[in-house]
Amino acid sequence: MQINNERLHRYFTEMAKNGATELGGVHRLALTDEDKAGRDLFIEWLKAIGLSVRVDDMGNIYGRYSSGNEDKPPVIIGSHLDSVYQGGKFDGALGVLAGLEVLHTLSENKVQTAFPVEVVSFTNEEGTRFQPAVISSGVLAGEFSLDFAYSRPDQDGITLGAELERIGYKGDSANRPSQVQAYLEMHIEQGPILEETGIDIGVVEGIQGATWLEISLIGQANHAGTTPMNRRQDAMVAASRIILAVREIAAQKVPNTVATVGKLRIEPNIVNAIPGKVVLAVDLRQPDNPKLQEAVGLVKATLAQICEEEKVKYEINQLWLSSTVMFNEKVVGTVEQAAKNLGFSYRRMLSGAGHDAMYMARLGATGMIFVPTIDGKSHCQEESARWEAVVNATNVLLETTLHLAQAQIAIPA
Ligand code: GLV
Ligand code: MN
Ligand code: MN
Repeated sequence: MQINNERLHRYFTEMAKNGATELGGVHRLALTDEDKAGRDLFIEWLKAIGLSVRVDDMGNIYGRYSSGNEDKPPVIIGSHLDSVYQGGKFDGALGVLAGLEVLHTLSENKVQTAFPVEVVSFTNEEGTRFQPAVISSGVLAGEFSLDFAYSRPDQDGITLGAELERIGYKGDSANRPSQVQAYLEMHIEQGPILEETGIDIGVVEGIQGATWLEISLIGQANHAGTTPMNRRQDAMVAASRIILAVREIAAQKVPNTVATVGKLRIEPNIVNAIPGKVVLAVDLRQPDNPKLQEAVGLVKATLAQICEEEKVKYEINQLWLSSTVMFNEKVVGTVEQAAKNLGFSYRRMLSGAGHDAMYMARLGATGMIFVPTIDGKSHCQEESARWEAVVNATNVLLETTLHLAQAQIAIPA
């Protein structure tokens, strides 16, 4: 049994029309009209193949295939349909649509499984519109409360809860999965390793830790023409020094750390005034949890020193912290065996990016499958993958799902 290549391609290209950008990417921020259109289309497809559809209180969408085993916990496969700001069409959507195609293949072949199989699309995985990322799987796993999630504001102060209601996707908490037999997520690698080593399939062993720090720098806005250089409290100068310090901490001080300042807001943001306030966000990732804490400690110490020198006050708001998560060895081994059985080259690896799998791992035995990414580009419109590589990985997803849905895998405590 194999997945249907053309049908998957059709699902993929049709979904990519929702929020399509000029450069071939998608702009489909969580709970916008574009996201709603993508969700509606996904549900239409789920219903067309006779799956039962549920939406939970975080707006996560589930489509269930069962062959008379309703009382058993499901094997869940999927990812997310939201994108980053002007992102790629593969990140997230590929995993959801590969999951849909696997269920379509199971249902047209009337495959009997011991456990129901569900495809899921999680709400606001990216954390672009509402911080933090992976918020909905985080709610399922008990990392975030529902009230916290609903109250997250976007940059215009509109809350996640209000937007869920507006687009008609605030479902029922009874529709959350109460138990999970296994969770499996197929995703593009979003990095260069598989392509550089010429390997077909990434067998993901876990996800490196991450933290997001929002830093507010409060100086004094003042006239650009009249304020002598030695009397300035320039929040932008402090921000510039912090950006360079963050790079140095990752590149030179704590090995294997990656760190990014990708977001900056300047006030008043005009030509002829000294910036009185800057808000910036630092993204830090590191596979070793104590080293992640060490890097965070260095950022905080350097920040304090720079702000003192620049006569600027500061506040730190931790938007997100997730420790490194290792997946279930039986699931990882099953993915590896599936790749081997199908004759693909494969390697074990850690995910650099965050995924809903990091919180789903608390609910059931979890693993991921990576697809090589062209030039390692992601979170940009140029993000791409060879279609043959996508089809290969989706067949690995099918094979792994069949194993997990037919064999008893102990749910970790
Ligand atoms: C999610 O896309 C992340 O930031 O890793
Ligand atoms: Mn993703
Ligand atoms: Mn992403």
